[in-house]
Amino acid sequence: MEKNNKIRWLWENMEGYRGLYVVGIFGTLLYNVLHLTVPHITQVILDMFLSGENAAYNLQNRRNLFYGLILAMVGLTIFRSVVVYVDCMIYEKVSQATLFNIRNYLYNKMQRQDMKFYSFYRTGDLMTRLTGDLDAIRHMIAWVIRMIIESFAMFGVTMTYFFFMNWKLALTLVMIAPCIFVVIILFKRKVAPKHRKLREKFALLNTVVQENISGNRVVKAFAREDYEIEKFNECNVDYSNTNKETAFTWLRFFPIVETFANLMPVALLAIGGLFLIEGELTFGQYAAFSGLIWAIANPMRNLGNIMNEFQRFDAASAKVLELYYTEPEIVDSPDARDIDGRLKGKIEFKNVSFKYEDAYVPVLHDITFTANPGDTIAIMGETGCGKTSLIQLIPRFYEPVSGSILIDGEDIKSWKLTQLRKNIGLATQDVLLYSDTIDGNISYGNSNISEEDVKKFAKYSAADDFISKMPEGYDTIVGERGVGLSGGQKQRISLARALAIKPSILILDDTTSAVDLETEKTIQDGLNNLDFECTKIIIAQRISTTKNADKIIVLEDGRIKEMGTHEELIARHGYYYDVVQLQNGNEVI
Ligand code: GTP
Ligand code: MG
Repeated sequence: MEKNNKIRWLWENMEGYRGLYVVGIFGTLLYNVLHLTVPHITQVILDMFLSGENAAYNLQNRRNLFYGLILAMVGLTIFRSVVVYVDCMIYEKVSQATLFNIRNYLYNKMQRQDMKFYSFYRTGDLMTRLTGDLDAIRHMIAWVIRMIIESFAMFGVTMTYFFFMNWKLALTLVMIAPCIFVVIILFKRKVAPKHRKLREKFALLNTVVQENISGNRVVKAFAREDYEIEKFNECNVDYSNTNKETAFTWLRFFPIVETFANLMPVALLAIGGLFLIEGELTFGQYAAFSGLIWAIANPMRNLGNIMNEFQRFDAASAKVLELYYTEPEIVDSPDARDIDGRLKGKIEFKNVSFKYEDAYVPVLHDITFTANPGDTIAIMGETGCGKTSLIQLIPRFYEPVSGSILIDGEDIKSWKLTQLRKNIGLATQDVLLYSDTIDGNISYGNSNISEEDVKKFAKYSAADDFISKMPEGYDTIVGERGVGLSGGQKQRISLARALAIKPSILILDDTTSAVDLETEKTIQDGLNNLDFECTKIIIAQRISTTKNADKIIVLEDGRIKEMGTHEELIARHGYYYDVVQLQNGNEVI
């Protein structure tokens, strides 16, 4: 995206504060015009009361004017300070409000992204975009833009004033400016890629820290602390070196810019002195020139700094904009319909094939099966055969490459996505609980349910017993900072969470893999006696879970190898039969 588009994007996000920002810009212009006050009044006082031909007369007879000028000088200086103060407040207010808008928008946007998005972006990188990068954008609004306006205004106003006083001397000074501009442009070319690199290194550093914190148990289990410290250290050194490299780039250009900036007072001293001797310049004017020379030199010096910050903004905003404009691929189709009440839960897969976008080969081939409302379908097969991939197609986490999936006789694409998902209760293979109470976790998908209902769903999931034994029962905080739970306990809470939305379709991905056989039996009883009808798709490896299913699907390398009831599959003497023999303790030959 072009730079001016980035600025336009900022402008769009300043909605509600644009007027205020324009006031801020005028404020900046105003206080830069006001900085002429002191030197100009000094010039008038010098020429009228101290050094001009009529100085003695004026001092005697026009005292009031003298006092008036001094008073104006003080008054205008105080006024300028007030303008500067209010102006800074305006920039701060607008920048914070814009940042708030963008942050909210990005967060909303991220919530609506699909699975592909989350497998593409690393958490550390996303966090960097929402923190450091956004701060660079805020800095752009609050500081960089103000500095750009300030520098150009200060330079422009002072130069105009110089031209009015003595255009020849002003021209001499202005001739030095282009040299500085050339140096700054060269600097920009060098520093831009460095900022992009710096931004990448920072995101990498964040990713390492984030992964290390989330994976701290693994680190400890393998006693890999030293290795992790070493890994972090490498990233840290890398980041620090890139930081230094970026800073040194400016330091290489700095002396050249500084030399040109310092040439200005020298030129003024030499040529201005000559003009003074020749009588082309009054003493007061000379004093005004030298009193204001900093207002010409400083903007020149600042340009490097501004350019540096601008490049930081450029690198950071490119990352933020990428997120800002990312659209999820899986969205409501234009003619998507509302689901009237509750789905019945008939699921049909018709010749469904599926491939992950970044993979070379498909993971599912030509899958066809039907689940009638209220049916229990068990899916089994070796690890990596495509079970999780298959069930993820039902809530449209991914889209099939070919074939279609129908629910209640309609293609799933014809339903509104959020409503479709609200009808599906999913307990995923990796259980994630939030840092919240157990009650809060169970009612996550349906916050309106009563305490009794929470308890009821926990009972269905064989979780009520252990929850009730906890000191704070359902109010026990779990998750990151809460009490630790066992794998099987987490699975049961996640099952209760899936049930709590009273789904038409319940999908359990290996949800009872970590519970003992007796508990599993209790859960099965619970699932068979739910007080609402739902179609259950259960991925499981245990025969005890699969044998009562209405249909068992055996997957192999993404294809349906066997399908039927327990008895039918036993009779086939295939994969399922072998698994039964193995689990019953009979060796398969
Ligand atoms: P288990 O859970 O271990 O029993 O396996 P599964 O049957 O659930 O397998 P799953 O559907 O998760 O994976 C099937 C194949 O797809 C495997 O070869 C995985 O490597 C691959 N796979 C899974 N998720 C992704 C993904 O997000 N991207 C890509 N490219 N491949 C994936
Ligand atoms: Mg799986």
